[in-house]
Amino acid sequence: MDACEAMSKADTIKLRNKHIGKSCQLFYRTDPLKIVRGQGQYMYDEQGARYLDCINNVAHVGHCHPKVVEAGTRQLATLSTNNRFLHDELVKCAQTLAEKMPGNLSVCYFVNSGSEANDLALRLARQHTGRHEVITLDHAYHGHVSAVMDISPYKFNQPGGDPKPDFVHVAPCPDVYRGVYRDCDYPEGTDLGQLYAEEVQRILERSPTGVAAFIAESLQSCGGQIIPPTGYFQKVYDAVRKAGGVTIADEVQVGFGRIGTHYWAFEPHGIIPDIVTVAKPMGNGHPVGAVVTTPEIAESFASTGVCYFNTYGGNPVSCAIANAVMRVIDEEHLQENALRVGRYLLEQSKALAYEYQLVGDVRGTGLFVGIELVTDRQRRVPATRAAKAVVERMKTVHRILVSSDGPDDNVVKLKPPMVFTVENADEFLYGIRECLAYLQQQQPVVNATPEGVPTTPVRVTHSLATGGILQPSPITRGQHDTSTLIKSI
Ligand SMILES: Cc1ncc(COP(=O)(O)O)c(C=O)c1O
Repeated sequence: MDACEAMSKADTIKLRNKHIGKSCQLFYRTDPLKIVRGQGQYMYDEQGARYLDCINNVAHVGHCHPKVVEAGTRQLATLSTNNRFLHDELVKCAQTLAEKMPGNLSVCYFVNSGSEANDLALRLARQHTGRHEVITLDHAYHGHVSAVMDISPYKFNQPGGDPKPDFVHVAPCPDVYRGVYRDCDYPEGTDLGQLYAEEVQRILERSPTGVAAFIAESLQSCGGQIIPPTGYFQKVYDAVRKAGGVTIADEVQVGFGRIGTHYWAFEPHGIIPDIVTVAKPMGNGHPVGAVVTTPEIAESFASTGVCYFNTYGGNPVSCAIANAVMRVIDEEHLQENALRVGRYLLEQSKALAYEYQLVGDVRGTGLFVGIELVTDRQRRVPATRAAKAVVERMKTVHRILVSSDGPDDNVVKLKPPMVFTVENADEFLYGIRECLAYLQQQQPVVNATPEGVPTTPVRVTHSLATGGILQPSPITRGQHDTSTLIKSI
């Protein structure tokens, strides 16, 4: 047994089945992983096997980064208490967050998770506007507490989900590959951003009591790594503000330099939100989050006279950890790394479409990449089973962890720790190429269950597997990255 293990894997499974609620689902349900250790971009199971982690946007600066561990350990050994006492780590953390934000986003509230951050953001918006209605995007996920489950179609649209409340309005996700306005259905150059923004405008016009807030991820992750069309957010923000609402950017997954070009994912859209929510990467695995807003909105919230108190939100340990994470991002130039490695990963992933009909679209920015699989490119039929088979085979044969997502669960997602290297990208590319080659060889497997798939690797000969010369991609429409977006705003 590994020194990090308290019991055998079989016993862990037994205890979990007995004491943990069935709705807490594991990755790789048929053969779950027992991970006992993490370092950098790698995770290790109880037998010491190393897995390349392509899914962990929480371990942002790398699993167990020594500077983060040291900052947390030191503070835990010194003082951990609530935020009603003065503490330097708390004010430093707020100052750094504010410095990283544009405009007058300068007032912070600390919380413990992304769900709490979005819940508090809604309270701020509602208090400031005196309204209750919210516009959210289709397929969005904003957290697990009741108020944000209400604005999470990703959850409430599942069979068995609670019905959508009347005060919540769902606008189409601005997905130009699979959404209601697809690039292939319109002449080249059509302003799809305008078409999607008009949907929000129509909701604003029909709203019975006025909209308090529009909330969206700046790049939708649960929707399948969606890159909205140029101009979409600017038009929506203008319309929402004209109608008296406020705008909330959920940066819980995509913030802190992940997109490479900017620190925050809303920045390339040329917008400044009224409220920004952050969490996950902020603590590198430790629970910490924040809501950042303007002094005006903070003033409205204070005017109720009801104090905001959160026992753990803003405790010195969480703030020391968040400060260390933000320092490491800067000191180790991880945003720049995301840009450099992400560009390579995206370009090489796009080249997969040359060899494999299964690849329908490849999109991304920085270390946020999605590879959408289809059984028919022309009709863009989602290859859900194939995506599941890729996720399973990547783990079983290649020891590479990826996930699938999107409304049809057919988008292979990458959001690795920011220390991901070009060599890691090559390892991923070799693995996925082998999986796609395997699926192409075994056509029926594309639509069969992934269970029982033989685990012998298929020979991969293409030069790109080791980073060869990039050809122009054959999928000329429906591929998106924010480099074009950034140029045009
Ligand atoms: C975009 C987004 N917002 C909010 C949340 C909720 O964050 P947490 O799980 O920390 O409560 C998540 C979690 O996956 C998320 O992806």
